[in-house]
Amino acid sequence: MRTNMPTSLFRKSLLGLTVAAAMSAAHAQTAEVEVLHWWTSGGEARAANVLKELMEAEGYGWEDFAVAGGGGETAMTVLKSRAMSGNPPSAAQIKGPEIQEWGELGLLGSLEEVAMAEGWDDLLPAVVSDVMKHDGEYVAVPVNVHRVNWLWANPEVLDEAGVEMPTTLDELFAAGEAIREAGYIPLAHGGQAWQDATVFESVLLATGGTEFYQQALVELDEEALGSEQMVEALETFKRLRELMDEDMSGRDWNIATSMVINGDAGMQLMGDWAKGEFTAAGLTAGEDYLCAAAPGTQEAFTFNIDSLAMFRVEGEEQEAQHALARLVLEPTFQETFNLAKGSIPARPDLDMSEFDQCAQQSLEDFQRTAEAGGLVPSMAHGMAVRADVQGAIFDVVTNYFNSRDMAAEEAARRMVNAAQAAL
Ligand code: BGC
Repeated sequence: MRTNMPTSLFRKSLLGLTVAAAMSAAHAQTAEVEVLHWWTSGGEARAANVLKELMEAEGYGWEDFAVAGGGGETAMTVLKSRAMSGNPPSAAQIKGPEIQEWGELGLLGSLEEVAMAEGWDDLLPAVVSDVMKHDGEYVAVPVNVHRVNWLWANPEVLDEAGVEMPTTLDELFAAGEAIREAGYIPLAHGGQAWQDATVFESVLLATGGTEFYQQALVELDEEALGSEQMVEALETFKRLRELMDEDMSGRDWNIATSMVINGDAGMQLMGDWAKGEFTAAGLTAGEDYLCAAAPGTQEAFTFNIDSLAMFRVEGEEQEAQHALARLVLEPTFQETFNLAKGSIPARPDLDMSEFDQCAQQSLEDFQRTAEAGGLVPSMAHGMAVRADVQGAIFDVVTNYFNSRDMAAEEAARRMVNAAQAAL
């Protein structure tokens, strides 16, 4: 699904490195890494390619194990069957609490040697490094920090409708109405469970605030899950359907983003991997497209950290795997990958001058909310709860969203059951 966007600039930045490494590649190792991920949209594939090129520049082989499907559910299913047959890849994009689950199975290898040599503990904020460790040892390496609670918009469509970027949910509904009257789809969306959950958690954050978000979607507090606040979040979420189009069922997230890019739709609520699509289309933030915190969530930052967990492998494959882990946290990769991916670097010490205004805002908001207590893990993106709980919550959210007659009270009751069933 790669786009035909000009990649010359992008390639040039890697060229120097490729040439420099050509000499060392003379003693080339043929050792390979096989890397499972789900980065298959235009922007995602450009980003993944950065890592492939860096590995190849060091003389290692790259076997791409890409499994399409936003949010990674299909990729995780495929990974499980590979791991069960005793043949896991060298590395896989595994995130959040799931890293612990794989660690408990004894399938992950230690990266302590690389982490010590590279000083990862000093490089990474504790909120990031804690997630990467199992039993006190690094078993995964973070590639970025995505923010999930974003709103994206096409400024020409907003202009046509005579509205500004909405900052509250009321403004969002009002802007949506005006956009529809101007002849456009107000909110581009793809009807897939993970996308529904992505929008839902931003609405819940806006209506309930970060403390409620934390209680309900992170701590799975039963009272919070079944509360009036939950009912309100669900009802507001469902009202958003009015701003979406009838053909949304099953649509991929990047197709929804392209509707904003093409000017068919005005806005999209989506994490900043959507920015990778705008970037791949050659568009400039603040001019050709707009970004802002999801309405009503300015004081919050829902984080989603992509990371590569390393499986227990030996010999040459382990050598290549350790090279991969080292490269991922080096400045070249962190900068080039994240420019393409839409996220910000996982290490906070890098020069951000090449990054656009959305990324600059993301970094500022990350730091500000970390201090003020508004930094929360994304439930929809596997950072908050275990995969089985997440799956159960997805079912409730998506069934409610698509049901003609399920009351929000009933959905809230099911939320409580979802959390209990998974205990
Ligand atoms: C991942 C992103 C990815 C997005 C869409 C998220 O869960 O963290 O890296 O771009 O899903 O597939």
